[in-house]
Amino acid sequence: MDIKETFIKFFENKGHKYIPSSGVIPENDPTSLFTTAGMQPLVPYLMGAKHPEGTRLVDVQKCFRTNDLDAIGDTTHHTFFEMLGNWSLGDYFKEESIAYSLELLTQKFNIPIEKLAVTVFKGEDNIPRDDESANIWKKHGISEDKICYLGKDDNFWIAGGSGPCGPDTEIFYFRSNDPVPSKYDPNDERWVEIWNNVFMQYYMDENGKVTPLSQKNVDTGMGVERITAVLENKDDNYKTSIWQDVIEKIEEVSSKSYDDENYTKAMRIIADHIRAIVMISGDDAKIKPSNTDQGYILRRLIRRTIRYAKTLDIDINSDWDITLANMIIDKYEKYYSELKRNREVILAVLTNEKTKFSRTLEKGLREFNKLVNHLKGNTIDKDMAFKLYDTYGFPIELTEELAHEQNLKVDTEGFKEKFKEHQEKSRTASAGKFKGGLAGDGVIETKYHTATHLLNAALKEVVNQDVHQMGSNITAERMRFDFSCDHKLTDEEKAKTEQLVNKWINEGLPVTHEIMSKDKALKSGAECMFIEKYPDEVTVYSIGDISKELCGGPHVQNTSELGHFKIKKEESSSAGVRRIKAILE
Ligand code: ALA
Repeated sequence: MDIKETFIKFFENKGHKYIPSSGVIPENDPTSLFTTAGMQPLVPYLMGAKHPEGTRLVDVQKCFRTNDLDAIGDTTHHTFFEMLGNWSLGDYFKEESIAYSLELLTQKFNIPIEKLAVTVFKGEDNIPRDDESANIWKKHGISEDKICYLGKDDNFWIAGGSGPCGPDTEIFYFRSNDPVPSKYDPNDERWVEIWNNVFMQYYMDENGKVTPLSQKNVDTGMGVERITAVLENKDDNYKTSIWQDVIEKIEEVSSKSYDDENYTKAMRIIADHIRAIVMISGDDAKIKPSNTDQGYILRRLIRRTIRYAKTLDIDINSDWDITLANMIIDKYEKYYSELKRNREVILAVLTNEKTKFSRTLEKGLREFNKLVNHLKGNTIDKDMAFKLYDTYGFPIELTEELAHEQNLKVDTEGFKEKFKEHQEKSRTASAGKFKGGLAGDGVIETKYHTATHLLNAALKEVVNQDVHQMGSNITAERMRFDFSCDHKLTDEEKAKTEQLVNKWINEGLPVTHEIMSKDKALKSGAECMFIEKYPDEVTVYSIGDISKELCGGPHVQNTSELGHFKIKKEESSSAGVRRIKAILE
């Protein structure tokens, strides 16, 4: 049985519209790095905005949770996972929600009702006990003994600290060949949670104050990996149909067996991480490995995967990673078409990061071992941790992991201080380098200057040649760019502009400058904003052969230093002038 398809079809037959997954990198939500639940992209609609597809929705959402990278390697935890969900946006409520869940589980997934138990909210903090749900369960044949009332920690759902929320009812399955106990016991681990139905009818503000929402919603979440293991009767997620071929491929490229317990954990980590890497780099947000935010997580995942591949004696310079990534893309592109579209990007991310890391990994590991052999005491000091980071590209978490395996500690706090000092030093150094340029510019602002030129050039190409810069403003957090244009940019224009800027960044174009007379500069076709404001002798900055502008600088030396360019907003500035806010990440 195709579980995702069965779930989606079932709800389509109940009048739900299938909506494609949103990005695993949230759009328009700078407060979270990743989408962690199916409801996250739907928050505005839970709050009352009209969804274009109506009031009943069904989807499978790409989710990613980083809380516990160290837990990966056991039978059940994953970084990336898929969440099936059905929604009522002010449409049906508890009655239908519970009836639908039970019908799908018992009639489509063929789970005997005796193997199910549920928890409901017992009432706390002025929010009443959910007798209504309990009664509906009973009406449908769940006995009183299989219903357990729990408090806020278990049966009240909210994403993070504030937002739409409500009591939930969780459904458990008895995963064991033992006889099913007549009474449900929340501490008995043979009962595993398979589905969560949240009755979102409240809003909690930052101070914890709860008020009713304008409409009553249903938000449900069913983890694909968990339900698959249950239905395929496997006690190890990696033995299900989701992972079987991937694990077999890892066995093949390493000539080792998954069942050999010396290798099981490494294989699970590689499988989990490769899939997460594909999903993050294959998202339309086009995250690239970097030292901040999602880019840093991506970098850690790739470097961790490579390190574990080495423990399996995989020839890391062979194309084992590309083979695995292609397998994952083929498997998931049916639901996430962006993977197909971005296949080349995904493979390039893997290849580039591997090239960067594998050059130093070997030496770094040797250095680490040498250090351990000469270590006095049991702590790796901050200088050594910093050297491993700075010279060999070891994320601090990798050093910690290696240390942990040898029962050693790392002075992580010291490392972080040193890291900060180092950042400040390099900022001052580059500010010095640009003395005479725009005063006070730091590394980040300098990058934004160059990005401004790229954006200007990209808009000319994508929108039209009559686009001209009308103003700009740069802070360490973002750039703002005003330009002449008679219409609101379409989504396609925005996407193309973003893509073009990123293409130029990825091409690593050199940034050069030349001093010449204003006349000559204009004749050469250099772009400028207010020609009368410039002196007779001007500086012209060129980026490869795609941009030429009169400008005082400073600029980076090569576009590859910029990271990833992203348009956050496009809006009107004044009549005939549009404004783009964008960031580098
Ligand atoms: N939002 C609920 C969850 O993630 C369904 O568990």
